[in-house]
Amino acid sequence: MTMDEITKKVENMYIHFPYPPDHAKDRFWKKRNKKTFQRGCRLAEWLLGLDPTLAGGKHLDAGSGTGIRLIGYAKTIPDIHCTGLEMSPESKKHAVANAKAMDVDNIKFVQGNILDENLSQKLDGPYDLITSHGVIHHLSDPAGGLSRLLTLLKPNGIIMISLYGTFGRHEPDMVRRAVSLLEPDTEKYEKRLRIVRELISKKKLFGKKLKTKFKDDAYIVDAYLHVQEINYTLDEVLDIYNGNNIQPLSWFEGENARKDLDKLLPESLVDDARALCDLDLWRLIEVRKRPYMLAVAGRKK
Ligand SMILES: C[S@@+](CC[C@H](N)C(=O)[O-])C[C@H]1O[C@@H](n2cnc3c(N)ncnc32)[C@H](O)[C@@H]1O
Repeated sequence: MTMDEITKKVENMYIHFPYPPDHAKDRFWKKRNKKTFQRGCRLAEWLLGLDPTLAGGKHLDAGSGTGIRLIGYAKTIPDIHCTGLEMSPESKKHAVANAKAMDVDNIKFVQGNILDENLSQKLDGPYDLITSHGVIHHLSDPAGGLSRLLTLLKPNGIIMISLYGTFGRHEPDMVRRAVSLLEPDTEKYEKRLRIVRELISKKKLFGKKLKTKFKDDAYIVDAYLHVQEINYTLDEVLDIYNGNNIQPLSWFEGENARKDLDKLLPESLVDDARALCDLDLWRLIEVRKRPYMLAVAGRKK
């Protein structure tokens, strides 16, 4: 299948800047990169809680990048057989090395494009679990990508897609748009990196000074210089699930925030919030917390 122009640009970006720029042998591993791995472990525990039969099953992670998050799944769900599908050969190379460095032997990595109509021939589906973190919102055809993944999922299988949240992404997206006006040529990485560093030097993201978080160019490129990005509200994600015959089961960030409502609301309003139905409570959490990512799990009907 010939690649469309957007997909070619996305692939080129991740060939130059494999993401996350985490390498298990990197001297920063303990300090910084472990977070991505730990988030993979926490997501895996949450999914296993939703469906304990995932243990021993087959798992596809679409757009697995350098594999760090998927390694978290592989180490957390008992006897799971994981496949990491990744378009960028460079990212796949890092992923293989990372899995080896972390003594993981239940993942295989396959190079391929989610949008490829012959994708199933490269893979050993159908799968019990399909995950995709931070990928579908970068596709030239997100709806087509999701449909393709659903053809690889068993009936009653679990799908978990993690998408950029409209409210949490607002500020980085405005920076991204400003850079695109100042230097529209997406191949001019050096100049675009310089512009973005100047624009964000005094800002904070996740309460941290950007200079500290973004030591590595790959973080900047992924967060601020992406060639293709679509953001979603929780209601939009739920509509997509319902429209594709996926029964929404749970929202990761929403369920975590539910435990700490007093951090999101004045104490006097916490009881009122708790009295809301699940969906309205999630909507309230979304506008108070403004999450950067929305990780929603669902079951194929
Ligand atoms: C933001 S990174 C996320 C990596 C990983 N999922 C994580 O969360 O750490 C997006 C990844 O998706 C891959 N990707 C983007 N479009 C793809 C496509 N059409 N098919 C397969 N992989 C794709 C990119 O190459 C990149 O490695």
